[in-house]
Amino acid sequence: MADSDINIKSVLQEDRIFDPPAEFMNRSGGAWIETMEQYSTLHAQSIADPEHFWGAVAEELHWFKRWDTVLEWDCPDARWFAGGRINACYNCVDRHVENGFEDQPAIIWEGEPVGDKGPETRTLTYGDMQREVSRCANGLKAMGVGRGDIVTIYMGMVPELTIAVLACARIGAPHSVIFGGFSAQSIADRVTDAGSKVIITCDGAWRRGSVVPLKANVDEAIGLTDIVERVVVVQRCENAITMLAGRDHWWHDVVEEASDECPCEEMDSEDMLFLLYTSGSTGKPKGIVHTTGGYLVHTFLTSRYTFNLRHHEDHVYWCTADVGWITGHSYIIYGVMQNGIPSIMYEGAPNYPAPNRFWDIVERHKVTHFYTAPTAIRAFMKWGESHPRQHDLSTLQVLGTVGEPINPEAWMWYHRVIGHEQCPIVDTWWQTETGGHMITPLPAATPTVPGSCTLPFLGIDAAVVDEHGVEQPANTGGLLVVRKPWPSMLRGIHGDRQRYIDTYFSRVDGMYFAGDSARRDERGYFWIMGRMDDVINVSGHRLGTMEVESALVSHDAVVEAAVVGMPHEIKGTGIAAFCTLSTDWKPDDELIETLRAHVASEIGAIAKPDMIRFTDALPKTRSGKIMRRLLRDVAAGREAVGDMTTLEDFSVLAKLQSDEG
Ligand code: PRX
Repeated sequence: MADSDINIKSVLQEDRIFDPPAEFMNRSGGAWIETMEQYSTLHAQSIADPEHFWGAVAEELHWFKRWDTVLEWDCPDARWFAGGRINACYNCVDRHVENGFEDQPAIIWEGEPVGDKGPETRTLTYGDMQREVSRCANGLKAMGVGRGDIVTIYMGMVPELTIAVLACARIGAPHSVIFGGFSAQSIADRVTDAGSKVIITCDGAWRRGSVVPLKANVDEAIGLTDIVERVVVVQRCENAITMLAGRDHWWHDVVEEASDECPCEEMDSEDMLFLLYTSGSTGKPKGIVHTTGGYLVHTFLTSRYTFNLRHHEDHVYWCTADVGWITGHSYIIYGVMQNGIPSIMYEGAPNYPAPNRFWDIVERHKVTHFYTAPTAIRAFMKWGESHPRQHDLSTLQVLGTVGEPINPEAWMWYHRVIGHEQCPIVDTWWQTETGGHMITPLPAATPTVPGSCTLPFLGIDAAVVDEHGVEQPANTGGLLVVRKPWPSMLRGIHGDRQRYIDTYFSRVDGMYFAGDSARRDERGYFWIMGRMDDVINVSGHRLGTMEVESALVSHDAVVEAAVVGMPHEIKGTGIAAFCTLSTDWKPDDELIETLRAHVASEIGAIAKPDMIRFTDALPKTRSGKIMRRLLRDVAAGREAVGDMTTLEDFSVLAKLQSDEG
């Protein structure tokens, strides 16, 4: 664990409080949870009897066979809806077709390039999805993919990505989606860890007018591992790629030959639905395991209540995340599609071809629910109000944020400029591991305070405790834990049981430790204070400092590296790297650029350090541990404070703090 001090008293004072707008109920055609009283009563009941609460929610989904027990809990192992048989794709697609919504839009996709006639768009109805997903599922089956075979998906934001995800779910093959910004080495590591023999990719992906060479990255990754047997390639950018006969297949050939009827596999509630790799405090990303029944129940209910999604109300929902992250899994695909709400998928950058692109999409598609990250909001603030002001945003009802703490200035801007003070903001705290929302306002019920994610979702027993599990008094920092299991909790780390126990269930006895520190205010509202481990949150994306350090030292020039987070105007947290060099290398600007490019090729562009400082030595304790706390101060331009008695050589710090450092 990092040497952060959790016992600090609150520094941030925020007195502004915003009641849900009076007009909200009229504009949204009603609300699932209407008042704070209703929330409080339901929350108390759901904590007192979680099995009754979650069992009633599960009744709303389609099961081939009903569960025997709602919950079996033997800490740290949860089994939700054990004995039940269910299929995720059936609940997202077939169910709506069977209920007569075949012609309703499921996915509204918009490509990034803008031609003379505007951008390319595609709408896929639930009927289309059923046929397309079945074709893809049959194509995968013909390649020998079956229940339990992990399929890697490394694609841009095209409809085929959602189709591929649901096709895997349909045939019981867990998917492992890798964000398209990751490098060949990152793909190879994940494919090897997952033992995945099939990769679905695209020739390329459009990003800010250029093509990201996805297929070329896959080719390079396959050269680093020897287990991949088949690659399916969606043609999107028509960039030049090589296709290896026997191994590589065009998507259009695979699906063209396949039947559009494919039964859904009856999966056990606890069968793995997907793996999703995320960063932890070691150099090795962990494959978070999510299973089927509980994940579906939780994402279904949170989508419905947190955003107040209502079928038949002309709701159009848009989450701007990439499907490569958990937000895209839960709140572009599984949670939203189970609710039968049209979900927008946008392929490209928020400022391409101009900084009004998002608002243009909101206006043209009449978006009612909009979910994005604080880093995007800060970028919009910087680009200026004139861009959103050009557009009619009056269809918007609920605004959401996720991924990192939102600073009150960004919250206020979102509220005023995008929401026109008419839209509740739901600041949702959760994680890859939690699968779905954990602490969040409910739009019609919860008064909001800028910067606070407010109160636990129904059925969630979140608390701020000390190391012994004792709840902290108001406004005192502590460890953010969840005391009771919840349906969409991770079931493990792929292939590493001990790491699962050590990371999440060892810090505080019998409780899930989230890795964040937090405090609660007098109202009981949660304020997330940040990560307590060596994980940094860059633009809402999680990176392990050790991953970046390993990438740096894999370059010949670098002997030792220490990576810490530093304040960044847009990204929230930027990456600062302190490196000691081998004597053959000159510490100049060219080397800085070389190292940044090296990290991008080792991990991906998101991991490029924002600042690299060369130093003769790193500040260490006498036992040799790097004192990251001091480096964080140096990176932030603050004077280092706190206990320095364990520092081995004070002159190292003094030198770093002086300008020539
Ligand atoms: O530190 C918290 C921060 O993001 C971490 C989880 O990152 P990841 O697994 O990548 O999932 C991000 C999308 C769910 C958390 O441990 N975090 C997430 N949401 C918030 C947040 N911090 C403050 N406020 C939030 N709303």
